[in-house]
Parts: sequence; C-alpha cells; structure tokens
Amino acid sequence: MKPFEWKQDTKTLIFVDQRALPSLEYVTCSKLEDVLGAIKNMVVRGAPAIAIAGVYGLVLHAFHIKQKSYGSVDFDKFLIELKKGAAQLIKARPTAVNLSLVLDKVLQGISKLSTTEEIVPFILREAELAIDDDRKMNLQIAANGLELIKDNFTILIHCHTGGLAVASGEYGTAQGIVSLASEKRRNVKVFATETRPFLQGRITAFELAQEDVNITIIPDNAAGILIYRKLIDCVIVGADRVLSTGHVFNKIGTYALAVLTKHHKIPFYVALPITTFDFVHKLEDIIVEQRDPKEVRFCRDQQIVPNDVPVLNPAFDITPPELITALICDKGVIYPPFEEALAALREAP
Ligand code: MRU
Repeated sequence: MKPFEWKQDTKTLIFVDQRALPSLEYVTCSKLEDVLGAIKNMVVRGAPAIAIAGVYGLVLHAFHIKQKSYGSVDFDKFLIELKKGAAQLIKARPTAVNLSLVLDKVLQGISKLSTTEEIVPFILREAELAIDDDRKMNLQIAANGLELIKDNFTILIHCHTGGLAVASGEYGTAQGIVSLASEKRRNVKVFATETRPFLQGRITAFELAQEDVNITIIPDNAAGILIYRKLIDCVIVGADRVLSTGHVFNKIGTYALAVLTKHHKIPFYVALPITTFDFVHKLEDIIVEQRDPKEVRFCRDQQIVPNDVPVLNPAFDITPPELITALICDKGVIYPPFEEALAALREAP
C-alpha cells in the first residue's frame, strides 16, 4: 500500500490516513498548509515517505504562488516564496533529514531553471524520480540485509519501517528485510514493539500480517524480558537521520533497545537508505522533536493520567555508534568503525 498518491487531474495529494488503520481513510491535500498538517498530525509517517510528501507540498505551494500573482510572478520572487514554503515543511518534521535534503536539492535545481513555467513540471519530475529511487534503494536494503538473517531467526523490530513509511510503498527499510526473508521462504518470526504513544507497531503488524509473516506485537516494555529469555536473535530498526559518526536518530525507545542488545550480546542493526545519512551536521546541531504533551498523553486508549499531571513525551532518541553492530544501507552493510566507513561511502561515486 502506498502512503500517498499525487492526482494530476485534481492537483491534489491524497494520503492514506495512517492514524485510522486498519480502517482505510484518506486525507486530501490541495495546499501547502494541508501537507504541513498531515506531517505534523502523523497522517503520514516514516522519514522517506515524509520527504516526498514534502516535495508534493512544494508543488502545491508553487500552484498557490502562481495563482496569487495571476501567473506573472518574477522568477526570483517565486524562488523566495518557494524557499519560505520549504522552510515551513522542514520545521514540520526537523528530525527526518530526508525531508530537508530532498527539498534543498529541488530548490537548487529550480535555481538553475530559466522561466517560472518550468518550475512545477520540474518539481513533479523530481518527485517521480525520488519515488523511483526509493523503490530501488529499499529493494537493495532488503537484499543486503537478507545476508544477515539466518533461517529460524526471531527478529525484534521497533516503530514502523514498512511500505507505508517509504515513498514508493514497497518493502520499506528495516521491515523490508523481514518481508524479503519471508518471500524467500526463510522461516522468520517477528516481534514488533507497540511503539507508544503513537502505536506505529500496529501498522507494522498490520502490514506484516497481510504478508503472512509470523508477527507478534508486544508492549514496548516487554522487549527486555524477551531478550533476557534468549527469544530474540537480532534487533533491526530504521532511522530518521544518521550522522557521519554513526549516531542514529530514531523513534523513542531505539536507544533502550540498543543498550539491551549490547548487554545481552545480540546484534543491533539499523537499516536505512543513503538519503537518511546526514554528512553535514554534528550531534549538537540537531533538534530532536518533542511531541506536544497536550496532544499525546501516555495512554491513548485509556486516558488514565490526570489532566494536571505534566507529561514529558520525547519523540526521538539518539543511539551512539558503539551500540550498533552494522548499518544496513542500499550501498552495502557498513560495520564499525563507522566514521571511516562512512567517509569512504561519501567519497564513493
Ligand atoms: O514518527 P514516525 O512514525 O514517522 O517514526 C518512524 C520512524 O521512526 C522510523 O524508524 C523512521 O522514520 C524510518 S521509516 C523507514
């Protein structure tokens, strides 16, 4: 299932509302603000999917700029307005580097065009190319990761990294490895953490159950006892951003799982496309999002927390490289020391 579809005839971006799954509901976006809302309100999730949703958000913004100026806006002003729109999109999901990288690339491409007429077709073409790249990268991540998965393995996965979390709707990142292993008739069993407070683990379970993968969902805080009882052979997670040092930004709870794996000496893998690497920023530069505590209480199903009790709700955490066994990327499986390996990856054509 694809996370969204661009409708050229109506010039709208239609999202599967991931908050409503397994009910199939849609959110239609006809302007930038709608896309900002879809990203902020978790209609769309997963760094690669959010990135391309952002590119379509820029298309909608370009239509708006044209309309506002009756089609006669000058090129430089058009670009300034587009940059403002891109800045708003990046602010909607600052942890996911894929979004800012793709928008920067698109804006750079636009700056080389000569007329305003070329802008919308250019952004649309970039979006299509990025979706195609996404498809190829995910398949390659799955193929590279497959080498690490033995028959009869039990894998723990966290959050959601499947088809709905990527732009093409195919395979996903960490989850794609499991899907391919199952397709290749490897006997694998999966435990998915529920992933509080937004319950992305339920989307993981929804997708893997449709693929007939042996999947069991667990409360986040059950991971420790499963690992202690030697029921897990490895943990695989996705990432929202990975620095050149190998520090991984991902869904809250990732760090705790990595510490557990280190203690119990089982592998901890992070699966990601090349577009999730941030070779520019340093650890201290990154803003890690917090969910609005008023919006999300600890218990979404049963609101047992009294309203006047403060809630702290970090959305992402940081896992240091020394806890990571390998980064499974479309370009290959990368082992420590990450700084050297990633410098070589960056130089590679
Ligand atoms: O808040 P979400 O649901 O967007 O979080 C998703 C994750 O943290 C994923 O691990 C990450 O974005 C990679 S998705 C392929």
